[in-house]
Amino acid sequence: MTKFLDKTLFLEDEKATTELATNIAAALENLFGGVNSFSKDNSNESVIVYLLGDLGAGKSFLSRALIQYFLPEQKVKSPTYTLVETYSVEGIAPFAIHHFDLYRLCDPEELEYLAIRDLLAHKSLNLVEWPSKGKGVMPEADLVIELQHLDAGRNVQLSAQSDVGQVIIDSMS
Ligand SMILES: Nc1ncnc2c1ncn2[C@@H]1O[C@H](COP(=O)(O)OP(=O)(O)OP(=O)(O)O)[C@@H](O)[C@H]1O
Ligand SMILES: [Mg+2]
Repeated sequence: MTKFLDKTLFLEDEKATTELATNIAAALENLFGGVNSFSKDNSNESVIVYLLGDLGAGKSFLSRALIQYFLPEQKVKSPTYTLVETYSVEGIAPFAIHHFDLYRLCDPEELEYLAIRDLLAHKSLNLVEWPSKGKGVMPEADLVIELQHLDAGRNVQLSAQSDVGQVIIDSMS
């Protein structure tokens, strides 16, 4: 089995979390539209990012910063009740961002009501908070980002779970 990369960082404050988001988003942008981008044949590819961590660990904060890298003026709503909020990124290589919060999902099968297969059939970045609630229906992650409280800041571990995830970690500065 291929061994994928891990990267661990300490984020001392919100600014460091925002900088991490910028770094990850730039790597994703490269993947979606740049030299390492999906080939034409593969243009429906969706990237799945799991965000793990306790309540208040910073999953939504990081998601908002990732979304606002692509859409700076965008108001980012909490998907807690709607389960998913979708944003469109225009440009030469347009794609959708689906921001999921599955905390209130009772049964993974409920994801079918969100037409999850259709959402993921198109080129998209999928940010998934509480992916454990969608186990079996939500596809496995390309990249797992785990946040933990540490002193007044956060510890973050990035783990690649696929070649795409590895490309993202590799192309981070
Ligand atoms: N590196 C950091 N150091 C200290 N505080 C941070 C850091 N990064 C983010 N925060 C703060 O942590 C809080 C995290 O809240 P957030 O809503 O993102 O948590 P969450 O993981 O989404 O929780 P929930 O599971 O309840 O949705 C925010 O108020 C944010 O300002
Ligand atoms: Mg949240």
